[in-house]
Amino acid sequence: MSRTPQGQRASLDKQPHEVAAMFDGVAERYDLTNTVLSFGQDRSWRRSTRAALGLRPGERVLDVGAGTGVSTQELAQSGAYAVGADLSLGMLYAGKRARPQVPLLAGDALRLPFADASFDAVTISFALRNVNDTDAALRELARVTRPGGRLVVCEFSTPVNPAFRTVYLSYLMRSLPAVARTVSSNPEAYVYLAESIRAWPDQAALAGRVAAAGWGRVAWRNLTGGVVALHRGIRE
Ligand SMILES: C[S@@+](CC[C@H](N)C(=O)[O-])C[C@H]1O[C@@H](n2cnc3c(N)ncnc32)[C@H](O)[C@@H]1O
Repeated sequence: MSRTPQGQRASLDKQPHEVAAMFDGVAERYDLTNTVLSFGQDRSWRRSTRAALGLRPGERVLDVGAGTGVSTQELAQSGAYAVGADLSLGMLYAGKRARPQVPLLAGDALRLPFADASFDAVTISFALRNVNDTDAALRELARVTRPGGRLVVCEFSTPVNPAFRTVYLSYLMRSLPAVARTVSSNPEAYVYLAESIRAWPDQAALAGRVAAAGWGRVAWRNLTGGVVALHRGIRE
Protein backbone atom coordinates (compact mmCIF):
# COMPACT_ATOMS: atom_id res chain seq x y z
CA MET A 1 0.00 0.00 0.00
CA SER A 2 1.27 3.48 -0.75
CA ARG A 3 0.72 6.26 1.77
CA THR A 4 0.79 9.97 1.08
CA PRO A 5 -0.03 13.04 3.20
CA GLN A 6 -3.45 13.08 1.47
CA GLY A 7 -4.36 9.45 2.12
CA GLN A 8 -3.75 5.97 0.93
CA ARG A 9 -4.50 3.63 -1.91
CA ALA A 10 -4.74 -0.13 -2.19
CA SER A 11 -2.17 -2.10 -4.14
CA LEU A 12 -3.32 -4.01 -7.21
CA ASP A 13 -3.28 -7.31 -5.28
CA LYS A 14 -6.31 -5.84 -3.43
CA GLN A 15 -5.80 -6.98 0.15
CA PRO A 16 -9.23 -6.59 1.83
CA HIS A 17 -7.98 -4.43 4.74
CA GLU A 18 -6.25 -2.05 2.31
CA VAL A 19 -9.35 -1.83 0.11
CA ALA A 20 -11.62 -1.16 3.10
CA ALA A 21 -9.24 1.48 4.49
CA MET A 22 -9.02 3.18 1.09
CA PHE A 23 -12.82 3.37 0.79
CA ASP A 24 -13.10 4.59 4.40
CA GLY A 25 -10.92 7.49 3.23
CA VAL A 26 -13.15 8.49 0.28
CA ALA A 27 -16.52 7.80 1.93
CA GLU A 28 -17.53 11.34 2.89
CA ARG A 29 -17.30 12.75 -0.65
CA TYR A 30 -17.76 9.50 -2.58
CA ASP A 31 -21.14 10.27 -4.18
CA LEU A 32 -20.11 13.76 -5.34
CA THR A 33 -16.69 12.67 -6.63
CA ASN A 34 -18.27 9.87 -8.63
CA THR A 35 -20.69 12.17 -10.36
CA VAL A 36 -18.00 14.76 -11.16
CA LEU A 37 -15.46 12.23 -12.50
CA SER A 38 -18.03 10.42 -14.64
CA PHE A 39 -19.50 13.69 -16.01
CA GLY A 40 -22.86 12.68 -14.47
CA GLN A 41 -22.94 9.39 -16.39
CA ASP A 42 -23.02 7.32 -13.18
CA ARG A 43 -26.75 8.01 -12.81
CA SER A 44 -27.63 6.55 -16.17
CA TRP A 45 -25.30 3.54 -15.60
CA ARG A 46 -27.21 2.82 -12.37
CA ARG A 47 -30.58 3.12 -14.11
CA SER A 48 -29.39 0.69 -16.80
CA THR A 49 -28.24 -1.77 -14.13
CA ARG A 50 -31.68 -1.70 -12.51
CA ALA A 51 -33.37 -2.23 -15.89
CA ALA A 52 -31.05 -5.13 -16.79
CA LEU A 53 -31.96 -6.92 -13.56
CA GLY A 54 -35.66 -6.94 -14.58
CA LEU A 55 -36.75 -6.61 -10.94
CA ARG A 56 -40.38 -7.07 -9.98
CA PRO A 57 -42.11 -5.66 -6.87
CA GLY A 58 -41.64 -7.94 -3.88
CA GLU A 59 -38.51 -9.66 -5.22
CA ARG A 60 -35.35 -9.71 -3.11
CA VAL A 61 -32.18 -8.26 -4.56
CA LEU A 62 -28.71 -8.08 -3.00
CA ASP A 63 -26.29 -5.28 -3.91
CA VAL A 64 -22.74 -6.40 -3.06
CA GLY A 65 -20.06 -3.72 -2.62
CA ALA A 66 -22.93 -1.29 -2.06
CA GLY A 67 -20.71 1.39 -0.49
CA THR A 68 -22.84 4.39 0.47
CA GLY A 69 -25.96 2.66 -0.86
CA VAL A 70 -26.31 4.89 -3.91
CA SER A 71 -26.59 1.78 -6.13
CA THR A 72 -28.93 0.03 -3.63
CA GLN A 73 -31.29 3.01 -3.55
CA GLU A 74 -31.61 2.90 -7.33
CA LEU A 75 -32.61 -0.81 -7.18
CA ALA A 76 -35.35 -0.07 -4.64
CA GLN A 77 -37.06 2.18 -7.22
CA SER A 78 -38.27 -1.05 -8.85
CA GLY A 79 -40.41 -2.01 -5.85
CA ALA A 80 -38.10 -4.94 -5.04
CA TYR A 81 -36.65 -5.27 -1.52
CA ALA A 82 -33.04 -4.17 -1.98
CA VAL A 83 -30.31 -4.73 0.61
CA GLY A 84 -26.68 -3.64 0.34
CA ALA A 85 -23.53 -5.22 1.81
CA ASP A 86 -20.05 -3.73 1.98
CA LEU A 87 -16.64 -4.28 3.58
CA SER A 88 -15.94 -0.62 4.41
CA LEU A 89 -17.58 0.63 7.60
CA GLY A 90 -16.72 4.19 6.56
CA MET A 91 -18.77 3.82 3.36
CA LEU A 92 -21.63 2.20 5.30
CA TYR A 93 -21.71 4.99 7.91
CA ALA A 94 -21.69 7.65 5.18
CA GLY A 95 -24.54 5.76 3.49
CA LYS A 96 -26.55 5.51 6.71
CA ARG A 97 -26.29 9.28 7.14
CA ALA A 98 -27.11 10.11 3.51
CA ARG A 99 -29.94 7.62 2.97
CA PRO A 100 -31.14 6.13 6.31
CA GLN A 101 -34.03 4.32 4.61
CA VAL A 102 -31.68 2.01 2.62
CA PRO A 103 -30.84 -1.30 4.41
CA LEU A 104 -27.05 -1.64 4.48
CA LEU A 105 -24.95 -4.15 6.36
CA ALA A 106 -21.33 -5.16 6.78
CA GLY A 107 -20.36 -8.15 4.66
CA ASP A 108 -17.50 -9.51 2.59
CA ALA A 109 -18.24 -10.46 -1.03
CA LEU A 110 -16.23 -13.64 -0.44
CA ARG A 111 -18.27 -14.74 2.62
CA LEU A 112 -21.70 -13.22 2.30
CA PRO A 113 -23.78 -13.36 5.51
CA PHE A 114 -26.77 -15.02 3.78
CA ALA A 115 -28.06 -18.56 3.36
CA ASP A 116 -27.93 -20.37 0.01
CA ALA A 117 -30.54 -19.27 -2.58
CA SER A 118 -31.74 -16.27 -0.49
CA PHE A 119 -32.15 -13.82 -3.39
CA ASP A 120 -34.07 -13.54 -6.66
CA ALA A 121 -31.31 -11.34 -8.07
CA VAL A 122 -27.82 -10.16 -7.15
CA THR A 123 -25.73 -7.32 -8.47
CA ILE A 124 -22.36 -5.71 -7.95
CA SER A 125 -21.59 -2.20 -9.25
CA PHE A 126 -18.05 -0.88 -9.60
CA ALA A 127 -16.92 -3.26 -6.86
CA LEU A 128 -16.05 -6.65 -8.43
CA ARG A 129 -12.79 -5.06 -9.67
CA ASN A 130 -11.89 -4.28 -6.03
CA VAL A 131 -12.47 -7.76 -4.65
CA ASN A 132 -9.35 -9.75 -4.05
CA ASP A 133 -10.62 -12.97 -5.75
CA THR A 134 -12.97 -12.23 -8.69
CA ASP A 135 -13.86 -15.86 -9.44
CA ALA A 136 -14.59 -16.71 -5.80
CA ALA A 137 -16.82 -13.62 -5.54
CA LEU A 138 -18.78 -14.67 -8.65
CA ARG A 139 -19.26 -18.16 -7.14
CA GLU A 140 -20.34 -16.65 -3.80
CA LEU A 141 -22.90 -14.48 -5.63
CA ALA A 142 -24.22 -17.65 -7.28
CA ARG A 143 -24.45 -19.41 -3.91
CA VAL A 144 -26.85 -16.82 -2.45
CA THR A 145 -29.00 -16.66 -5.63
CA ARG A 146 -31.92 -19.04 -6.19
CA PRO A 147 -31.83 -21.30 -9.28
CA GLY A 148 -33.16 -19.22 -12.18
CA GLY A 149 -32.21 -15.99 -10.38
CA ARG A 150 -30.34 -13.18 -12.16
CA LEU A 151 -26.92 -11.55 -11.89
CA VAL A 152 -25.86 -8.18 -13.27
CA VAL A 153 -22.26 -7.01 -12.92
CA CYS A 154 -21.82 -3.29 -13.65
CA GLU A 155 -18.14 -2.53 -14.07
CA PHE A 156 -15.69 -0.33 -15.96
CA SER A 157 -14.58 -2.04 -19.14
CA THR A 158 -12.78 -1.49 -22.46
CA PRO A 159 -14.09 1.13 -24.93
CA VAL A 160 -14.67 -0.57 -28.28
CA ASN A 161 -13.63 2.27 -30.61
CA PRO A 162 -9.78 2.42 -30.75
CA ALA A 163 -9.60 6.23 -31.08
CA PHE A 164 -12.02 6.76 -28.19
CA ARG A 165 -10.11 4.14 -26.17
CA THR A 166 -6.87 6.16 -26.54
CA VAL A 167 -8.55 9.39 -25.41
CA TYR A 168 -10.26 7.60 -22.52
CA LEU A 169 -7.05 5.93 -21.28
CA SER A 170 -5.29 9.27 -21.34
CA TYR A 171 -8.17 10.78 -19.29
CA LEU A 172 -7.92 7.88 -16.84
CA MET A 173 -4.18 8.02 -16.29
CA ARG A 174 -3.60 11.80 -16.49
CA SER A 175 -6.71 13.94 -15.99
CA LEU A 176 -8.76 11.81 -13.60
CA PRO A 177 -6.18 11.87 -10.75
CA ALA A 178 -5.76 15.63 -11.27
CA VAL A 179 -9.52 16.28 -11.11
CA ALA A 180 -9.79 13.95 -8.08
CA ARG A 181 -7.25 16.16 -6.26
CA THR A 182 -9.78 19.01 -6.37
CA VAL A 183 -12.89 17.07 -5.25
CA SER A 184 -11.97 13.90 -3.36
CA SER A 185 -11.04 13.48 0.31
CA ASN A 186 -8.42 10.89 -0.78
CA PRO A 187 -7.08 11.61 -4.29
CA GLU A 188 -4.62 8.70 -4.05
CA ALA A 189 -7.59 6.33 -4.23
CA TYR A 190 -8.30 7.64 -7.72
CA VAL A 191 -4.81 6.72 -8.91
CA TYR A 192 -5.71 3.17 -7.81
CA LEU A 193 -9.04 3.52 -9.66
CA ALA A 194 -7.24 4.37 -12.91
CA GLU A 195 -4.67 1.58 -12.50
CA SER A 196 -7.27 -1.04 -11.57
CA ILE A 197 -9.48 -0.17 -14.57
CA ARG A 198 -6.51 -0.55 -16.91
CA ALA A 199 -5.65 -3.95 -15.41
CA TRP A 200 -9.24 -5.29 -15.57
CA PRO A 201 -10.28 -7.99 -18.13
CA ASP A 202 -12.16 -6.83 -21.22
CA GLN A 203 -15.80 -7.72 -21.93
CA ALA A 204 -15.22 -11.17 -23.48
CA ALA A 205 -12.69 -12.24 -20.84
CA LEU A 206 -14.99 -11.24 -17.98
CA ALA A 207 -17.93 -13.05 -19.63
CA GLY A 208 -15.85 -16.25 -19.66
CA ARG A 209 -15.14 -15.90 -15.94
CA VAL A 210 -18.82 -15.26 -15.11
CA ALA A 211 -19.81 -18.40 -17.04
CA ALA A 212 -17.11 -20.48 -15.30
CA ALA A 213 -18.47 -19.43 -11.89
CA GLY A 214 -21.87 -21.11 -12.29
CA TRP A 215 -23.85 -18.58 -14.35
CA GLY A 216 -25.67 -19.53 -17.56
CA ARG A 217 -26.79 -17.51 -20.63
CA VAL A 218 -24.01 -15.00 -20.02
CA ALA A 219 -24.09 -11.89 -22.19
CA TRP A 220 -23.01 -8.27 -21.95
CA ARG A 221 -24.06 -4.84 -23.09
CA ASN A 222 -21.74 -1.85 -23.45
CA LEU A 223 -22.65 1.54 -21.96
CA THR A 224 -20.98 4.80 -23.02
CA GLY A 225 -19.10 3.01 -25.80
CA GLY A 226 -17.71 0.34 -23.47
CA VAL A 227 -16.44 2.65 -20.70
CA VAL A 228 -18.81 0.49 -18.63
CA ALA A 229 -20.21 -2.96 -19.41
CA LEU A 230 -23.18 -4.75 -17.89
CA HIS A 231 -22.62 -8.51 -17.73
CA ARG A 232 -25.65 -10.62 -16.97
CA GLY A 233 -26.22 -14.28 -16.21
CA ILE A 234 -28.83 -16.70 -14.93
CA ARG A 235 -28.18 -18.97 -11.95
CA GLU A 236 -28.03 -22.53 -13.24
C1 LIG B 1 -16.41 1.99 -6.08
S1 LIG B 1 -17.35 1.49 -4.69
C2 LIG B 1 -18.91 1.13 -5.39
C3 LIG B 1 -20.06 1.48 -4.50
C4 LIG B 1 -21.45 1.36 -5.14
N1 LIG B 1 -21.76 0.01 -5.55
C5 LIG B 1 -21.60 2.28 -6.31
O1 LIG B 1 -22.05 1.83 -7.37
O2 LIG B 1 -21.30 3.47 -6.20
C6 LIG B 1 -16.69 -0.13 -4.38
C7 LIG B 1 -17.12 -0.70 -3.04
O3 LIG B 1 -16.75 -2.09 -2.98
C8 LIG B 1 -16.46 -2.38 -1.63
N2 LIG B 1 -15.71 -3.63 -1.54
C9 LIG B 1 -14.46 -3.89 -1.96
N3 LIG B 1 -14.13 -5.17 -1.67
C10 LIG B 1 -15.20 -5.72 -1.08
C11 LIG B 1 -15.48 -7.02 -0.56
N4 LIG B 1 -14.58 -8.01 -0.59
N5 LIG B 1 -16.70 -7.24 -0.02
C12 LIG B 1 -17.64 -6.26 0.03
N6 LIG B 1 -17.42 -5.00 -0.44
C13 LIG B 1 -16.22 -4.74 -0.99
C14 LIG B 1 -15.68 -1.16 -1.15
O4 LIG B 1 -15.63 -1.06 0.26
C15 LIG B 1 -16.48 -0.03 -1.83
O5 LIG B 1 -17.45 0.49 -0.98
